[in-house]
Amino acid sequence: MAKQDDQLNQSNLSIRPFDPTTDVDDLMVWASDDQVTQFCSWDTYTSKDQAVEYINNFVLNHPYYRVICLNNRAVGAISVTYNTGNDKCRGELGYVLASEYWGRGIATWAVKAVGCTIFEERSELERLEALVDVENKGSQRVLEKAGFLKEGVLRKYCIQKGKTCDMVMFSFLSIDVPQM
Ligand SMILES: CC(C)(COP(=O)(O)OP(=O)(O)OC[C@H]1O[C@@H](n2cnc3c(N)ncnc32)[C@H](O)[C@@H]1OP(=O)(O)O)[C@@H](O)C(=O)NCCC(=O)NCCS
Repeated sequence: MAKQDDQLNQSNLSIRPFDPTTDVDDLMVWASDDQVTQFCSWDTYTSKDQAVEYINNFVLNHPYYRVICLNNRAVGAISVTYNTGNDKCRGELGYVLASEYWGRGIATWAVKAVGCTIFEERSELERLEALVDVENKGSQRVLEKAGFLKEGVLRKYCIQKGKTCDMVMFSFLSIDVPQM
C-alpha cells in the first residue's frame, strides 16, 4: 500500500555492497518477516545465526549482492546471479525490501538503477531476467514500472514453500537501457 505521507526522495537512496560490520541486523529485519519471505524460495529466519551463516556462505561470496539503502541504512537487497558458458549472456535479478518501506517506489528505483548499470559492469551480459510468482502482483508491477517486458508464464516451474508455482518471466535487455 502506498504511504501517502511519505514522498520518495531519490537522493536519499543508494545501492552499495553489503557491509558485515553494520548491515547484519538490518538484513535480519527483512529476513525474519513472513510478509517478506512469502514469495521467496527460502524460509523466514528465526535466529540471527541463520543470517550470519547466509551472509558468510552466500552474500560475501556473491559477485553481485548489494543492499538498497535509505540514508545509507540497509532497507533491502538486490542481486544479479550470473551464468557461465553459453548462458553467460543472461543474469537473474532478485530483490527484497523490508515491509516497513513498501509502497514508496524504492524497489522500482533499485531495479531501474541496476538495469541501467549492470550491462556496463558485466560486458558479456545482454539480458537481465526476473522470475516472479504469478500471485506476487507487487513484484510484477515493480518490473513493469522499471521497463521490463513480461514474456509469459512458466507453468509449474518451481517449488516454493512446498507448493509448485507458476512463474512469470520478465526480461530487460542491454538494448533497452535508455540512452542519455
Ligand atoms: C515486491 C517488493 C520488492 C516491492 O517493493 P516496493 O518498494 O513496495 O515496490 P514499489 O513501491 O516500487 O512498487 C510497488 C507497486 O506494486 C503495487 N502493488 C503492491 N501490492 C500489490 C498488489 N497486491 N496488487 C497489485 N499491485 C500491487 C503498488 O501499488 C506499486 O505500484 P504503483 O506504483 O503503480 O502503485 C516488496 O513488496 C518485497 O520486498 N516483497 C517481498 C519480497 C519479494 O516478493 N521479492 C520479489 C521476488 S520476485
